[in-house]
Amino acid sequence: MRITLKLTLIISVLLIALFVTLGWNSYRYEHSLIYQQAIDKARVISNQLIEIREYLSATEKGEAEKNQDLIPQVAATRIATKIRSGSPYYVRQVSLRNRNPQNIPDEYETAELKNLSRSPEQKESYKIVKNGSDETLRYMLLMTADKSCLVCHGSFESAPLFVQQRFSKGHSSYNYRDGEIIGAVSVSVPMKELYISIGSNLFSELMIELTILVLLLLFTGWIIHRAILRPVSTVAKGIEEVASTGNFTQRIEQPGNDEIGHLVASFNELMSELERRTQQRAESDERYRNFIEIAKSPIVTFLPDGKIVIANQKAEKLFGLTKEELLGQSICEFMADPESIRTGIKNYFEAGSSTLIGTTSQQTVRDVCGRLFDVEMVISVSQTDRDAMFTAILRIMESSTG
Ligand code: HEC
Repeated sequence: MRITLKLTLIISVLLIALFVTLGWNSYRYEHSLIYQQAIDKARVISNQLIEIREYLSATEKGEAEKNQDLIPQVAATRIATKIRSGSPYYVRQVSLRNRNPQNIPDEYETAELKNLSRSPEQKESYKIVKNGSDETLRYMLLMTADKSCLVCHGSFESAPLFVQQRFSKGHSSYNYRDGEIIGAVSVSVPMKELYISIGSNLFSELMIELTILVLLLLFTGWIIHRAILRPVSTVAKGIEEVASTGNFTQRIEQPGNDEIGHLVASFNELMSELERRTQQRAESDERYRNFIEIAKSPIVTFLPDGKIVIANQKAEKLFGLTKEELLGQSICEFMADPESIRTGIKNYFEAGSSTLIGTTSQQTVRDVCGRLFDVEMVISVSQTDRDAMFTAILRIMESSTG
């Protein structure tokens, strides 16, 4: 797999994980925000309702007698109904000692009213109530009776006539004391309808996050490409080129002083070293060629497989071939007894020494026309950093024909 692909995959996986985490976080944030807003709104509605009731109760001067729509409870309920119309907030005012059967608290409200009356410092309560997959926020705010309420909720005797007529003596809605809990505003909100708004909010939030992440991805990609991949690939191409052409003159411009810069610097150093060595080798090869050229004896240098790589003028004359013709041919072609050379080389490699190497031996060589010559031959080995090379120095014996 290419490194760009690998890096892209890794970064993408990281960014996707980040995106999912951010998305989940945003979702939870939106969720809790909506929950908090619902509570706040329920609180505001309840407080307003209590304010309205208290205002009506305090300013009421017998008008309710003639117009029962001005009874604080009745008027507040009507106003509340108008206020909440079109919104998902359902508002009731309930009491355990109710006058109107519509105001009988349900199971939840009864339990909460009892709970709240037990802890005097607590005035409100809220909770998410689950019913299957439906979630409902239930909010309750306590209502206490003040002096103005006692006009109608105090003793039976002091209550206005219309109240007395509707609720007989001994009805539980009488005999409240100043400051006593008389009931509660109860708000319920089906959360499903509110959560719908998360969808659009979340969508725009996710779009922004996604855009930022994509920009981040592109930016990181660009940085990685510029700072790492491009210089590395230049070095790789340089090495490839050297491998295919053998040309060590190439240098790469150092991009900086970081790790990549060091890599490039090392590459350049390596190239200089190789260039220097090649040059040295070429020079020493050249010196050797010049040297054997002036020698009086035929000299042939060959590889372990017998292939001739260097031959001098005297060798050309002996074998009757030009240098170009000799190079690449096997030394064994020119020996009357090629086996002795082969075993000699074999022994040298297997046993580390051979009677053929370093000593003078009598051999018979054959030129291109098949004429035979007796020669004395000394073979020396030079172990270069490449292969072992064998150099045979021949001396044509006086007795030899030709
Ligand atoms: C003018 C008389 C009057 C005054 C003043 C008055 N109320 Fe009432 N109240 C009533 C009547 C009548 C009802 C029954 C209304 C109906 O038929 O729904 C009622 C109902 C209620 C209820 C609903 C529960 C139930 O009994 O059905 C609550 C709670 C309540 N009043 C609280 C108060 C508070 C708190 C005050 C003072 C801020 C107050 N009232 C002042 C006459 C009054």
